[in-house]
Amino acid sequence: MRSPLALLLALPLLSAHAREVKLINDHWQFHLGSLANIEAVKAPDLDWKTVNLPHDWAIAGPFDPRVSGEQGKLPWKGVGWYRKSLEISAEDLAAGRRAILLFDGVMANPEVYVNGESVGGWEYGYNSFHLDITDHVKPGNNDLVVRASTEKHHSRWYPGAGIYRKVRLILVDPVHIPIWGISITTPKITEDHATVDLAIEVTNETDRSQIASLHTRLVGPNGDTVAEQQSPLEIPTGTFVIHHLSLTVPQPLRWDVDHPHLYTAVTEIHREGLAVDTVEQPFGIRTIEWTADDGFHLNDRRVQLQGVCLHHDNGPLGAALFRESLVRKLTLMKEMGVNAIRTSHNAPSPEMLELCDQMGLLVIDELFDKYGPTASAPISTRNYVENHAEREIRHFIRRDRNHPSIILWSIGNEVSDLLADRTPQAKRLTTQLVDWFHQYDPTRLTNMACHRTGGVDNGSLDALDTTGWNYGQKYLAARRKYPHQPLIYTESASAFSTRGYYAFPHPKNRNDFDKDHQESSYDLTSATWSDIPDVEFMRMERDRYVAGEFVWTGFDYLGEPTPHTQEARSSYFGIVDLVGIPKDRYYLYRSHWNPSEPTVHLLPHWTWPDRVGQEVPVYVYTNGDEAELFLNGKSLGRRKKSSSTATSLSTHKPASASSEEFFQDAEGNVQKENRADKAFDGDTQSRWCAEDATLPQWLQVDLKQSTSIPYVAITWEKAAAGYEYELLGSENGESWKPIARSNRAQNSGHRAVLYPDAKARFLRVNITHVPDRSWASIAEIRVETEIPKEAELLQDPYYQVMDRYRLRWENVRYEPGALGVVAYKDGMEIGREVIRTAGAPAALRLTPEPVHGDELRYILVEAIDADGNLCPQDMRRVTFTVDGPATLAGVGNGDPMGLDPFQDASHPLFYGKAVLIVRRDPDGHGPVTVRATGQGLPPISSPLEFR
Ligand code: GAL
Repeated sequence: MRSPLALLLALPLLSAHAREVKLINDHWQFHLGSLANIEAVKAPDLDWKTVNLPHDWAIAGPFDPRVSGEQGKLPWKGVGWYRKSLEISAEDLAAGRRAILLFDGVMANPEVYVNGESVGGWEYGYNSFHLDITDHVKPGNNDLVVRASTEKHHSRWYPGAGIYRKVRLILVDPVHIPIWGISITTPKITEDHATVDLAIEVTNETDRSQIASLHTRLVGPNGDTVAEQQSPLEIPTGTFVIHHLSLTVPQPLRWDVDHPHLYTAVTEIHREGLAVDTVEQPFGIRTIEWTADDGFHLNDRRVQLQGVCLHHDNGPLGAALFRESLVRKLTLMKEMGVNAIRTSHNAPSPEMLELCDQMGLLVIDELFDKYGPTASAPISTRNYVENHAEREIRHFIRRDRNHPSIILWSIGNEVSDLLADRTPQAKRLTTQLVDWFHQYDPTRLTNMACHRTGGVDNGSLDALDTTGWNYGQKYLAARRKYPHQPLIYTESASAFSTRGYYAFPHPKNRNDFDKDHQESSYDLTSATWSDIPDVEFMRMERDRYVAGEFVWTGFDYLGEPTPHTQEARSSYFGIVDLVGIPKDRYYLYRSHWNPSEPTVHLLPHWTWPDRVGQEVPVYVYTNGDEAELFLNGKSLGRRKKSSSTATSLSTHKPASASSEEFFQDAEGNVQKENRADKAFDGDTQSRWCAEDATLPQWLQVDLKQSTSIPYVAITWEKAAAGYEYELLGSENGESWKPIARSNRAQNSGHRAVLYPDAKARFLRVNITHVPDRSWASIAEIRVETEIPKEAELLQDPYYQVMDRYRLRWENVRYEPGALGVVAYKDGMEIGREVIRTAGAPAALRLTPEPVHGDELRYILVEAIDADGNLCPQDMRRVTFTVDGPATLAGVGNGDPMGLDPFQDASHPLFYGKAVLIVRRDPDGHGPVTVRATGQGLPPISSPLEFR
């Protein structure tokens, strides 16, 4: 039931001057290139092109094959000019109304001009900013110009260029709520009620003091008013006041990951009987708590963070921000089991946070990458913090603070200067940054994603409320120093794969990268500093004090094509490829992170005309615990996931070492953590580590009987580049003789295999040289009585962990036909999948994806045989046309090496697939049809609907 007051408030009050928010994104003029000054925009012969915002001037290319792929090989450096006639009526400006421009993000260093005069600008390309242009506009047409320059912007990935997010013109009464002027917190929440505190800023830009009243009502998730209040307000001229009020919501519906209930605070300012301003501010009611020993709690229960890091680009659309692209991205992630996003490494678009609120995704909202150098001009962290950071933090927090999805502020990613021992002011700078975050939001904790444990030792991280760690379970270092502080695994995995590509034989180790610059979709490689997904799964199952992991990355992105940095132009890290097609890895995550949904995924595809009679390994990703594989109706055996790792001759045998790492816990007791026996426990996730760098360092095991030793596999915790060591054998544990020695080839990776061909009871690894400032750390040693006959890979202790999460048939002999799998959980069938060998390509198939809005449509393009099977090796070129009031906004195929421009009408398929993106013209009505013609195949068309 609505109260009479609510009904009254719901009636439209007489007002000619309520707030108007106009999107001004259509029909801008764009010029690429430097101009001497603002006057030059009027030159009659300047070439202008009509564009609609959001716009990324560099995404059309062309790619430059000669430059490194670090920033995508795209022409993003430069200066762009945008121009628009802004029509403002006399009525718009009547009674002292203000005109404000709100930019969601301009890459980079925007300078804004109105009628030839500068009205302000901003440095950082990712943050939102607003400018009051009232004193520069006049009734009629106003010349609005924006200059964007990426010349001083530095980036470790493709940043995009231009006005790549939305722009709004806001017309508002001189007595109004400023941009981002409402802060909402929920200090007390019980089953019965929630206290909702509002701090509402009101500005008076008239020339006299104003008596006004504030009418605030809270609207619940189902549209009912649940609380309301009116308060008188007196605001002296030229000032602003902050009005605090506290309302009570009965039986609050919590915002949570499964039911993201949202409330809205509707605030109206009334003066002289008129409602002169209204702001609707969504918020949520939920509790969050970070613990040191039990991770993250949402609404009083532990929620394991199953997160992904996402860069801001949208593949073939570049940095241009469309709500539809985000809906698509986040929907895919959510269906995989993701419940958290890290906005790596910059302020996200407002739409991103709105969608996370609506979809129940938790967010680590991150402001910067490496302060200064990649944020803006190449200046030191110190200058940056002192001269710029406060303003960026203020905007960032004021804009984002009311989103219930945000659970943590990240002050930055890998801010080296704050982590390196050599920077004496590091501690002061971190403290300053954290203080500003706390000043603008006293309710949330801060974090930094760290990559060097030096910051733990030098105390520069002391000011942070929580620490985040990128890769290699470095969080262990922080656990020792800050035992009472919550920990987040802010970046994990950094694993590689190319959608649709499978290499034979398997890579020898996880850093054995592909000569053809693609990475096999068997999901066996990762960056040198990181790990395959399975290793991270196990760490997160083991280390429950860590709140959870954020995989690098959910989607491939433009730039940073590690490990093929020179050759390629987009990343291999994504669980989903650059155009949004899931890689096999997607189903590995889904099987582990979303276990209540059946996942039964077979790989690779089954069309290998060149491999008849040869081995093609088959992997199954399933949430089941067991599966049976069939080839042409014949069973190839039933396999079960393992719950523990395999043993060898040395597993669980007595071990000792020259020294063992120890630390003092909070009570001052000496704790040995990385003991000698950890290298013989069958678990590559635990390790022996020497206490310090004193050489030689040794680790030994007693095999309990004299045995011939043909094979020893060592898994180092870190890549053992530059290490020198020997294997010593002994019958009595006292007199030793060398039986094998390291060599250069074995020294580069994480894993070394030695073939001693000797007999001994005791075996010692004697380390004689390590690179500067490091000391030995061995995850696992396996001593085998026979040289393993199966593929080397199977014997690599590093990979054993996979058998907990995947089912593998490594030696399937390929024959064409049908490959099928039936998966079981606790003995009950949970699903099956069959893939068939494709015949010759016979047609193209166009599959429009679900409609998510009125501006974009995504269409999957595939080559199929006469029976509708995907032709998974087809790379033919396809030409597209778009009929009707729409344009081809982008086309791509997920090939990190592809150099076909994203806006060309023709594009090759990549392993049978591509994705086409069509953008409807503003004000476009009438039917839209796409046509595709593949070389040698009949043309095909598909009608497209928009919302
Ligand atoms: C991290 C960094 C990311 C990305 C990643 C690749 O150290 O924070 O931005 O570069 O490495 O593995």
